Amino acid sequence: MATPSPADYAPIEQGSFWLPKAGSTIARTIDMGWDVALWVSVVFFFLVAIPVVIFAFRFKRKHNSELPPPTGHNTPLEIAWSVIPLAIVMGCFLVGFKGFLDASVAPADSYEIKVTGQKWLWTFFYPNDYVSPGELRIPAGRPIKLTMSSKDVIHSFWVPEFRTKQDVVPGMYTGQWFTALPSLLEDTSKLEKDEKGYMVRRLTVECTEYCGKDHSMMLAHLVVMKEDDFNKWLEGEATGGGPPEQLGEKLFTKNNCNTCHSLTDKPSPGGGPAFKGIMGRQEKLTSGETVTVDDAYIKESILQPTAKVVAGFPPIMPPYQGQLNDKQIEALIAYLKTLK
Ligand code: CUA
Repeated sequence: MATPSPADYAPIEQGSFWLPKAGSTIARTIDMGWDVALWVSVVFFFLVAIPVVIFAFRFKRKHNSELPPPTGHNTPLEIAWSVIPLAIVMGCFLVGFKGFLDASVAPADSYEIKVTGQKWLWTFFYPNDYVSPGELRIPAGRPIKLTMSSKDVIHSFWVPEFRTKQDVVPGMYTGQWFTALPSLLEDTSKLEKDEKGYMVRRLTVECTEYCGKDHSMMLAHLVVMKEDDFNKWLEGEATGGGPPEQLGEKLFTKNNCNTCHSLTDKPSPGGGPAFKGIMGRQEKLTSGETVTVDDAYIKESILQPTAKVVAGFPPIMPPYQGQLNDKQIEALIAYLKTLK
């Protein structure tokens, strides 16, 4: 099982030179604000730059020539170059302000998903207590409201196709909302069959605020599916299905456990104990005590990793308290028991 690399995530489909193809209802308003500002700037750049170059040659002072008399005021011209730019800037402001208001207020019937960012993982909490590390599944055509917070430093949640971007800050909640366009599911060449057989469109959530060593790896899968499929999927995930060790194996990768814990008997360079034959093993701790690895020790080490650290390893594992429910922890333990 290899660590996921950025290449495993959905590529960004090129919509224009600047941005990928719009994938949410709000994207058009935001693109319009961008386009207006861009083209106004382009026009005025040439309107200024071309005369500057021409005048530099045309009105170059000849050697020993007299300075021309200074030019006086031209009131109509001065009013024109004050009022016209003011009107243009106000036009840009109105376009931007409308986009800002649209992006700020989520529709009342939004489906709310809680998000936490931590170094270097996104975790998603659904209203039915389903917890999903590393993957956000949403139905197309329905407004989704994210309520986000960070467990450590400032991260920023960005889906380029949706054009919405918001910092995720420790100690406070920030939010964003979007409705994925149903047209994302129309181009069948872009759809993929997921492990449960649903046809889905995969996009990528990126962290867009520098947050440490693995900032560039802090990606999450964004899976867009039909609303009916989404409802069926959510029910299936919430009530389980399949043996726990199978769920545990998936969670092991989704939570990036494999970044630091190898499945062989050699510790991985990521810095955690190796997991082959882990259950029942005697481990020496940094405190000098010895523990036998059992269900209780694994559970404690997932929730509060620094409580009992194995000697020779740095205490760098992030706590998963509140990130995994009991069922998911049991599934991980069941999976570890299969690593003989
Ligand atoms: Cu989290 Cu960058």
